[in-house]
Amino acid sequence: MKKHIGILTSGGDSPGLNAAIRGLGKAAHGFFGMQVIGFRDGFRGIMENRTMTLDADTLSGILTVGGTILGTSRDRPERMTVGGKLIDATDVIIENYEKNHLDVLVCLGGGGTQKAALKLKEAGLNIITLPKTIDNDVAMTDMTFGYDTALGIATEAVDRLHSTAHSHHRIVVVEIMGHRAGWLALGAGISGGADVILIPEIPYDVDSVANAIRQRMRNGKSFSIVAVAEGAMSRGDAAILKGALDKKEKADTKEEKKKAKAALAEFEVHHTGNTLRLAKQLEELTRLESRVTILGYVQRGGAPSAVDRLLATRLGSAAADLINRGIYGVMVGVRGDGTEPVPLEKTAGKRKTVPLNHPWIQSARHVGTNLGD
Ligand code: F6P
Repeated sequence: MKKHIGILTSGGDSPGLNAAIRGLGKAAHGFFGMQVIGFRDGFRGIMENRTMTLDADTLSGILTVGGTILGTSRDRPERMTVGGKLIDATDVIIENYEKNHLDVLVCLGGGGTQKAALKLKEAGLNIITLPKTIDNDVAMTDMTFGYDTALGIATEAVDRLHSTAHSHHRIVVVEIMGHRAGWLALGAGISGGADVILIPEIPYDVDSVANAIRQRMRNGKSFSIVAVAEGAMSRGDAAILKGALDKKEKADTKEEKKKAKAALAEFEVHHTGNTLRLAKQLEELTRLESRVTILGYVQRGGAPSAVDRLLATRLGSAAADLINRGIYGVMVGVRGDGTEPVPLEKTAGKRKTVPLNHPWIQSARHVGTNLGD
């Protein structure tokens, strides 16, 4: 009996998604003779049964294309907004899974997708996931696809900012994505030779950063590049966030939970202006003119790097192989040159942040980079 596979992409788009769809689709359809369909716009597409045929024709010519031919969304099966109301769409998704005679649903996504996929597994569906995100923060995989491309883009930006910072004798604070993990800022900061790298894992002291910049001035360097992760925060803010998170965890009553959630939302709003505030503080403390560059979505756009094309193809074809063997309920994790099926329970809800003893942190310190501590 021909196996039937459904594929969807969920969460933020990322370079390499099409390469993964192609790797999985070509291996499943061309090599193993399975039937493959795609669902559009993530979990919303399977809820609305919006499908797309994935055959030799549609899978051709997409290896190098950025974004996802399927479209994506951040909708979650158990919290879907329909007609202005929040509903649990799990049952409808199960109905459409059955209507399409699926043997398995393959979900390509980051941390949020792993969580949603686990819920669908618990609801009885056969699920496989592939780890995708520019943030590289999915647990139980050496790497996620999308990271290498974004790392290249952010590094090039840091490179380019050097000449303008140098010419104007300025501090340039460059904000790099990564959600609540510092992989992208740390990687690009080291590769681009940033003078200061600030990541969420190491709450910073603005005086330490200013001192490092002043020291560079004393050494004749009248400019500095500060690479700051979007999730990085000062020691003071980190303490406020911790307090709010603790309160949320300890909240017993509905009222307490509401209050704690409101405090967290307020913190998020305050944090949005963090990079601009940091640049202003550094300007005041060092008297060097400061400018901000927020790299934003440019880091997610465009063609995937060779590393991401290779990784996505490996993961996609490994998923087809697992399906052929009837292995479900797993994420295809990267292990060195190979892959390993990781039970979804072991990865869902477990963010991979930069360990404080990680060798990259050591290397950054060894070359004289200030990490804000
Ligand atoms: O997860 C990828 C990512 O680009 C993060 O780095 C960033 O915090 C987030 O997505 C932005 O999300 P959205 O696309 O929903 O604005």
